[in-house]
Amino acid sequence: LNPSVTVLGLFCADLISRTPRLPAWGETLRGRGFSLMAGGKGSNQAVAAARQGASVAFISRLGDDAFAPLARSLYAEAGIDMTHVGTDPAAPTGTATILVDDEIGDNAIVIDPGACQNLTKADIDAAQSVIAGSAIFVSQLELPLEICRYGIETAHQHGVPVILNPAPGQVIPEAMYPLIDYLTPNESEAALLVGGTVETLDDARDAASILRKRGVGHVLITLGAQGVWINSPSFEGLVPAIRVDSVVDTIGAGDAFNGGLAAALAEGATLEAAARRGCAVAGLSVARAGAAPAIPMREVVDAELMRRNNEKGC
Ligand code: RIB
Ligand code: NA
Repeated sequence: LNPSVTVLGLFCADLISRTPRLPAWGETLRGRGFSLMAGGKGSNQAVAAARQGASVAFISRLGDDAFAPLARSLYAEAGIDMTHVGTDPAAPTGTATILVDDEIGDNAIVIDPGACQNLTKADIDAAQSVIAGSAIFVSQLELPLEICRYGIETAHQHGVPVILNPAPGQVIPEAMYPLIDYLTPNESEAALLVGGTVETLDDARDAASILRKRGVGHVLITLGAQGVWINSPSFEGLVPAIRVDSVVDTIGAGDAFNGGLAAALAEGATLEAAARRGCAVAGLSVARAGAAPAIPMREVVDAELMRRNNEKGC
């Protein structure tokens, strides 16, 4: 069975402490609660797509340590094909050390890709038929750029539409833009790519049109609580976020969006509908703790989308 969505990216163990503030170098602070949860943008996106009903294959690499089983049991439970999730006996599994401000929920993250730093083009070649057979290919910028780029080139060669979530923010070579069908930066990543600031809707409109001119098929700039600004050949405008009553943390909300978007596009949804689903998956995820564990199942998302439609109808 061909996957509908293939994701290339990082798994990492998110080591999360809530603190009153950031420590200074040489200082020790007492945390207010620790949790260990599955994270990594690629992994979170794969989980989000799978929970929306897509059949998903993930390409990545883990270490041979205490964190690796966290990933494998997550994929087993979500039904994600892990044939191309390798094990590197010589490197640790990726980790993200995350400090969450106990009051305002802001976070500071140190990400260490570990085994994923050693992914090779041969790993991508080994997954070539999986990539070629899928309806959508997804990547981010947590892996070495040349590996991400090679994955994108491979998908492009096979005519498989590419979603690039350019996170964490990093400038990418001009030649990559025409290979990207859907580019999904947030405000700060969009600002970094176009070299300006993206704070208002007008800024987002301008940034999106600059990115389109570089050769991207469809640009979707995620704007947090506002929603997502879309510039595509068939639609330009804002798809609003869902209303969220209480935010627990926003870790992985962008990944929830991308996974939901990918799953819906793979099913043939219009871009607007796919973005709407992405917004619902993301909005529901911020009401629960962590990244992967917070991602809602399809039934919950369907109910939310239905509720919104009904609200609009009356
Ligand atoms: O996008 C959120 C993710 O980014 C977290 O799960 C953390 O692992 C970091 O990589
Ligand atoms: Na969350």
